[in-house]
Amino acid sequence: MASRGKWGSKVGFILAAAGSAIGLGNIWRFPYITGNNGGALFVLIYIVAIIVLGLPIMLAEFALGRATAKNPVGAFNAIRPGTKWHFTGFLGVITGVMILTFYSVIAGWTLGYCLKCLGGQFKGIVREKAALVFQSFISDSWVQILWLAVFLLLTIYIVSKGISGGLEKYAKVMMPLLFVIMLLLLIRSLTLPGAEKGLQFYLKPDFSKINGRVFLAAMGQAFFSLSLGMGTMLTYGSYLKRKENLVSSAAWVAALDSLIAILAGFIIFPALFSQNMMPDQGPGLVFVILPVIFSQMPGGVWFGFAFFTLLAVAALTSTISLLEVPVAFLIDEKKWPRRKATWLVGMVAFVLAVPSALSGGGVRFFTNLPILHKDFLSLWDKLWGNIALSIGAFLVAIFVGYVWKTANALDEITNNGVKFRLAKCWVLSIKYVCPLLILIVLISQFF
Ligand code: PHE
Repeated sequence: MASRGKWGSKVGFILAAAGSAIGLGNIWRFPYITGNNGGALFVLIYIVAIIVLGLPIMLAEFALGRATAKNPVGAFNAIRPGTKWHFTGFLGVITGVMILTFYSVIAGWTLGYCLKCLGGQFKGIVREKAALVFQSFISDSWVQILWLAVFLLLTIYIVSKGISGGLEKYAKVMMPLLFVIMLLLLIRSLTLPGAEKGLQFYLKPDFSKINGRVFLAAMGQAFFSLSLGMGTMLTYGSYLKRKENLVSSAAWVAALDSLIAILAGFIIFPALFSQNMMPDQGPGLVFVILPVIFSQMPGGVWFGFAFFTLLAVAALTSTISLLEVPVAFLIDEKKWPRRKATWLVGMVAFVLAVPSALSGGGVRFFTNLPILHKDFLSLWDKLWGNIALSIGAFLVAIFVGYVWKTANALDEITNNGVKFRLAKCWVLSIKYVCPLLILIVLISQFF
């Protein structure tokens, strides 16, 4: 899009917003977080979080963006000039850069895996070998830095030209293709011997496992997956024409995004249990199990290659939206040219991404941080992907609920004749449910 262009159509906007939402969050993060948090119970809480927290906040961000036609910092400034509220926007800008750092490392893995598929490395592979291949891949520092650089350069190139509109055109074809391949993977996975155990893990909640950590994980995952809490959807809404329907757009984006995540779980867990593998393996989960599924399919090499390529494109439409937030800020507020803004932020992100890239075994310190006993990437993922986004979403709810006021937001949502039947529920959610729930979940982490 141009520095301040407009989306061509409603479908274009929904696809762009869905392009931001759908990405590694659905196919890499959702399964691994589900596996780490005990399965079905987490999934249940996640779905509730999408409906009760995600949808209302998304609508609030769309409305804020369209009403002000500004980047996150500018939006808060426009509505309450001279107050500290624009720090909420700043938090979003910083969070965007930080998520971009570790996200690009994982996106680099998808590129590396494209090549591995083509090279036939996964032919007839069994689980032990798949785990070894993955481990040696992520502990090779130079390879990690290389793929990270390639992926970030792609993102920078596209954002610097302001041609993400062009990419949406490809995404329009490629995302349905990804969906089709996922359906084929689904069939393969569900028909593996022992798949039922995986379905049970994924669908049958064990309420004895409930604890505060599961709630934070589910809430964070809902915000992460829907690209909320850092002003992405606000920024995307700022390129939106007056006449579009914000309510149905939000519903579409949330529905498509959840569909892909849930589908990913249906692929990963049956296969995982059929191979007698543990679900709580952390960030490497899908990169170990997917090659095993491909190896058990006719034409697996090509399926694998196509899958990782399409996943890389899905990741690219997300990293574009991550980079777009700080870039829109620098263009609008600091009057920087787009190219300069993009390259500068991209380079900073690259440097800050190095610890994550080296945390898979490349450098011992980052692989096993002292005291925390965690790797740097997982730490960053939790800190920025869960906590910072939750804080951002909390501030958006407070701002829209009490500072801008829901009446003004509702006016923005409905002033083009859109009927919003659930307006009362939305107000209730933004003013009370979202702030209270987010606060309780965040505070409960300290006990
Ligand atoms: N929602 C994206 C995904 O699921 C990640 C993202 C988070 C993008 C926050 C923008 C903002 O992959």
